[in-house]
Amino acid sequence: MKLVRFDHRKHDARSFSCGVAELDTWLRRYAKRSQMDSLTRVFVLVEDDGAAPKVRIVAYFALSMSSVEVDSLSDADKARLPRYPVPAVLLTRLAVSTAHQGQGLGGALLYKATKKALLANDAVAARLFVVHAINEGAARFYKGYGFTPSPGDPLRLYIALERLRAQLP
Ligand SMILES: CC(C)(COP(=O)(O)OP(=O)(O)OC[C@H]1O[C@@H](n2cnc3c(N)ncnc32)[C@H](O)[C@@H]1OP(=O)(O)O)[C@@H](O)C(=O)NCCC(=O)NCCS
Repeated sequence: MKLVRFDHRKHDARSFSCGVAELDTWLRRYAKRSQMDSLTRVFVLVEDDGAAPKVRIVAYFALSMSSVEVDSLSDADKARLPRYPVPAVLLTRLAVSTAHQGQGLGGALLYKATKKALLANDAVAARLFVVHAINEGAARFYKGYGFTPSPGDPLRLYIALERLRAQLP
C-alpha cells in the first residue's frame, strides 16, 4: 500500500466506505473541489491494483492550516500563550474503510499526517495539531494519542505538535 495525494481520475472514491456516511460523501463529492480551491490537502492510502481502471482507496485524511482561540484551550495550555489565536494544523478528516478498520491503519495515518504537519511547521509555524472528531468513538480514538478535548466542546480536540512529534514511532 502507498500514501499519495488524492487524484479523482486515478482513485476510486465511489467505492470507499468507512461506516460514517458524511466522511464517505465528502470524499466522493467534495474532496476534488476542496483541493482545487486550496481548502484542504487530501491524502489517500491505496492498494497497488494494476488491473483496475481506478485504484481502490483503503483510507484517507485531509489537512488544512487553521488557528484556535486561546479560550478554547485548557487553563494549563493557555498559561504561557499571548491572547491571539494560536496557529494550528487541522486534521479535517480521517477515515479507514470498514474492511480495514482495527488493523492499526488509523493510528499509522495519524502519524503520517503528523509528519506532514511537522514539515509545514518548518516553514509556517503551527503550535497545535487539532481534530474535529465526528462522534464520541472518534474522540476516544484521539484521546488514546494524548489529545485533550476543548473545554466546552468535547468533539474538538488538540495536542501540541511537538508532543505528537515525540510520540512518532
Ligand atoms: C476511527 C478510525 C479512524 C480508527 O482507525 P482504525 O484503523 O480502525 O484504528 P487503529 O486500528 O489504528 O486503532 C488505533 C488505536 O485506537 C483504538 N481505537 C480505534 N477505534 C476506536 C474507537 N472508536 N474508540 C476508541 N478507541 C479506538 C484502537 O483500539 C487502537 O488502540 P491500541 O493501539 O491501544 O490498540 C476508524 O475506525 C474509522 O475510520 N472510523 C470511521 C470514521 C471515523 O470515526 N473517523 C474519525 C475521524 S473524525
